[in-house]
Amino acid sequence: PTIVVLISGSGSNLQALIDATQNTNQDSGSPSLKANIIGVISNRQKAYGLERAQKAGIPTETVSLKRFKDQGKSREDFDDAVATLITTKYQPDLVVLAGWMHILSPRFLAHFPRDNVMNLHPALPGQFDGAHAIDRAFEAFQQGTISETGIMVHKVIADVDRGQVILQQPVPILPSDTLSTLEDRIHLAEHDIIVRGAQAFLDELTGKQQQQ
Ligand code: GRF
Repeated sequence: PTIVVLISGSGSNLQALIDATQNTNQDSGSPSLKANIIGVISNRQKAYGLERAQKAGIPTETVSLKRFKDQGKSREDFDDAVATLITTKYQPDLVVLAGWMHILSPRFLAHFPRDNVMNLHPALPGQFDGAHAIDRAFEAFQQGTISETGIMVHKVIADVDRGQVILQQPVPILPSDTLSTLEDRIHLAEHDIIVRGAQAFLDELTGKQQQQ
């Protein structure tokens, strides 16, 4: 099966996916991913994740909304360009958003009638939808309104971070935590759940479960 990954930043979750596709020794603690990552798309030229992809020999593309706007094009033109790139050039079984900083519009999602788009979000379902989820969880913890947070991978629908949950995982917040120690714990958990979630979703999309 094939995967295209969309990134905007450092790509540590992309790296986890790359490592998992190369992880052949089953007995190692880290999960493996039986798939090929055939393309990485970034909306930022400087995203370090592009270097990670290039090091792994994966084709990369950059599509910048800013550049579209500078050329007098619209957000819709940008969405159509990204979606068309994925569906014509790559036709992946699965699209994974790993830190993609744009909200996917209904227009973008209309290009994916098979609903084969997965997003990673660093919060539990319905807790802190949207941006800066970790900061907001840390603040809520400091105010005493939550005792733990979590992460999830979910199917993408037009309603931000609200699609059907594929996997979720609680992440404890410790009284000694700073924002950065919490971020480290969350990113570590993300690198595991994004691989397990991609494998589970691929199995569903390619009908593997029915065969078992
Ligand atoms: C992750 O925390 C992801 O959940 C959020 O953006 C971050 C991406 O990190 N949407 P990276 O670029 O994969 O390191």
